Amino acid sequence: MASLINRPDNLHIRHRNFTGLQKKVHIDNYTEMNRFMITVLLVYLMIVLIGYICFQEYFSITTVHLQYDNIKDRGKIDFNPDEDVLTEKNDFNPDEDVLVILHIQKTGGSVFNSHLVNDLSSKIPCNCSLKLNKYYRCKCFTGNGNLPVFSPYSADWICGVHPYWTDLQECLEKAMDILEQKHRQRKFHYITMVRNPISRYLSELAHMQSHQFKTWRKVTRLLCNGKYANQDEVPYCYQGDAWENVDLQSFTNCEYNLAHNRQTRMLADMKKVNCYNKTTMSEVERNKIMLQSAKENLVNLDFFGLTEYQKETQILFEHKFNIKFDQDFVLKNYTVIKQNEISEFEKNMALSRNKLDIQLYSFAKSVFFKRIDFIRNMKN
Ligand SMILES: *[C@@H]1O[C@H](CO)[C@@H](O)[C@H](O)[C@H]1NC(C)=O
Ligand SMILES: *[C@@H]1O[C@H](CO)[C@@H](O)[C@H](O)[C@H]1NC(C)=O
Ligand SMILES: *[C@@H]1O[C@H](CO)[C@@H](O)[C@H](O)[C@H]1NC(C)=O
Repeated sequence: MASLINRPDNLHIRHRNFTGLQKKVHIDNYTEMNRFMITVLLVYLMIVLIGYICFQEYFSITTVHLQYDNIKDRGKIDFNPDEDVLTEKNDFNPDEDVLVILHIQKTGGSVFNSHLVNDLSSKIPCNCSLKLNKYYRCKCFTGNGNLPVFSPYSADWICGVHPYWTDLQECLEKAMDILEQKHRQRKFHYITMVRNPISRYLSELAHMQSHQFKTWRKVTRLLCNGKYANQDEVPYCYQGDAWENVDLQSFTNCEYNLAHNRQTRMLADMKKVNCYNKTTMSEVERNKIMLQSAKENLVNLDFFGLTEYQKETQILFEHKFNIKFDQDFVLKNYTVIKQNEISEFEKNMALSRNKLDIQLYSFAKSVFFKRIDFIRNMKN
């Protein structure tokens, strides 16, 4: 190949008079064709390569095992398995410990909640045949009148619908006093589920479109530093009770939509960014602090699971609290939205509004699997 390309031109002409003329012409044409093809191919490869490097995040978004692993992680937090909350193993005592579910919308929190109230009968004695109302369907008090699990199913939305980490800090103790009708020493253990942000975001849109729950924004308290977020700070995206005919475009375009980066916001200590008043620092600064805080809180929760990894989630929980579920967790196939079920357009729209959540999720996955490794090594 190299000799064909480097051959001086006069050589071609001289050789034309020889017997192999037909063949020679063919080779010459072939050579030019080759050069052209190689150039085209190289340019094409460059484009593909650059595209791949820049947009890898888009392509790999919904495949389960390779998500976001190559996204640059700003606000790095060192994770040391030896000093992890996992090593502070806790033998769950229903008269002392309280599991507090921080239920982030569309992360499979209801399924997880259902496991807690139905499948831990040896430790958490729930009677869920009461159906008190749609959410508060279980009575879970111990013989001493203590409530070992603070969750939508066992405590309703007493701190507002889907309370944030920040809401719970200020509301939980008082709420427990009301539910138990007494004050006592309690050991709170915050637990949550985290999900692929793109699946979660699109799932929240679908939820809005179904009109099943009309007013998440309007019934979420956003309590922070002793006051609720006002409408100047977090305006509504729609008039009336429901977001009528909401489509992806309007869902994404509304700047104040709390679905954007929801997991980061719900896990961060919002006091660190002056709550919901955005005027006191730049957006870049605010985002950085929120993400950092969400990561810190996440890694310091007594437990978090990943929606896409139900089996491992169960293993971690059982290890942490030294407790066994009566039923095994199963991954529902609709939980994992497949690559080909989301259009490029949807992916890009969702991605543009969930950049913090994507970094948070990447961090969560790395911590989660280090914990799983830790448990596996311990058992060997
Ligand atoms: C649950 O509560 C209902 C209604 O009070 C009662 O009839 C039932 O026996 C209870 N079940 C258990 C297992 O305690
Ligand atoms: C946000 O905080 C600033 C400074 O404290 C204050 O002047 C402003 O009124 C606040 N904005 C809202 C919407 O409360
Ligand atoms: C999910 O799994 C069930 C049972 O295995 C099957 O009937 C159903 O078609 C699957 N759904 C999807 C969307 O793959």
